[in-house]
Amino acid sequence: MNTPIRDFVEKYIASEAVRAHMPGHKGKTLLGCEQADITEIAGADSLYEASGIIKESEANASKLFECESFYSAEGSSLCIRAMLYLLKRQGVTRLIASRNAHKSFISGCALLDFSPIWLKASEYLSCGIDNCELSKLLLQSNEKTAVFITTPDYLGGCADIKAISALCKASGAYLCVDCAHGAYLKFLPESLYPTDLGADMCCSSAHKTLPVLTGGAYLHIASTAPKAFCENAKSALSLFGSTSPSYLILQSLDTANAYIANGYPERLSEFIIKINIAKGRLKDHGFVLCGSEPLKLTLKPKSYGYCGGELAKLLENAGIFPEFADSDYLVLMLTPENADSLDKIITALLSAERRQAIKDSAPDLCDCPYAISLREALFAESEIIKASQSLGRILAQFNIACPPAVPIAVCGERINEQALKCFEYYGIKEISVVKE
Ligand SMILES: Cc1ncc(COP(=O)(O)O)c(C=O)c1O
Repeated sequence: MNTPIRDFVEKYIASEAVRAHMPGHKGKTLLGCEQADITEIAGADSLYEASGIIKESEANASKLFECESFYSAEGSSLCIRAMLYLLKRQGVTRLIASRNAHKSFISGCALLDFSPIWLKASEYLSCGIDNCELSKLLLQSNEKTAVFITTPDYLGGCADIKAISALCKASGAYLCVDCAHGAYLKFLPESLYPTDLGADMCCSSAHKTLPVLTGGAYLHIASTAPKAFCENAKSALSLFGSTSPSYLILQSLDTANAYIANGYPERLSEFIIKINIAKGRLKDHGFVLCGSEPLKLTLKPKSYGYCGGELAKLLENAGIFPEFADSDYLVLMLTPENADSLDKIITALLSAERRQAIKDSAPDLCDCPYAISLREALFAESEIIKASQSLGRILAQFNIACPPAVPIAVCGERINEQALKCFEYYGIKEISVVKE
């Protein structure tokens, strides 16, 4: 597969042209990557009005993902806001969402005046969805509705997109998926990619699971989705995006197309076999694992006598840095590029001596009711108070997140007793509330 953006930049570097254009480094090297960091010069195309090399490269991605592909140089965060805007343009007034939404979803909702109806969940980070509850909610209203789910979740859980999509289709609702953690799912022997399982649109952060620079992501639109989604995708992305998208990231997305086309599915399958063997060794040793996502290795270490943070420290001391750890979980995100370090990781984990199980667990979700809309709360006068004294107040900050960026409560919600327990558990000391 060709790499038109990278080829263009390589030629430009070789031409030793005088750079009387941005960026200010003029290709002179301080960091090492400046030569390839260009802007929209003649021939370089323009991300949001693509008609040349970027369009060609996006068409390559479309071939690989078998759906319309639009690049983002500002992560899935940008694509999530763009999807919300596309839903709004399409007349959607009612949004049903899974509780493990990322904070970019919350800020997008507040800006575009959606107040999502949350699906009940067992844990903040989990994408577990009760299809009966969703089905009831879908049937409850004649409003134009969209369902927005976040799967895979941070812990490696995967929602049943096929079943959810069938429910959405039966009631005429759109289905959007935040698949930030799952770009690679398209390339499994049997695709688990949202647009193949019935979603209308999804985003995925190429940088999270493919060899792409941080910030590289895709907005993907299924061929069965309304035409307006594709027609307005670029303007939706440009509405929230920078006018200076990074050409380093665009080259990286471009190069990833050739990487994927050149034997990636086979390399992925081989690596997944290795991870599965490693997961088996950990289980045999007494660790409890969770999640079904193939490239995540998630431990629930309390039954083995450790908090996630303690195991993370143990790994760090061995020169291994995990993706995420909190009291209850340790999450490692692995890709075929880890093939040579997998043994080191497993050896380090197996070196942890088993201890007495830790009994405490995270409090239940707080499920605070809305008092005002997200948008009203975001623009309301606010004050910062101690989280422990916030009972009954309306949250003003757009999101109180437990790491990693999943909302404990969102703006506009009235803080209840359970929220106070959650703030304490996740170490939230101060919050911003609407002034009374
Ligand atoms: C579930 C989820 N969605 C969206 C995002 C935002 O993605 P990006 O960092 O590519 O903007 C993240 C980031 O961690 C995430 O975990």
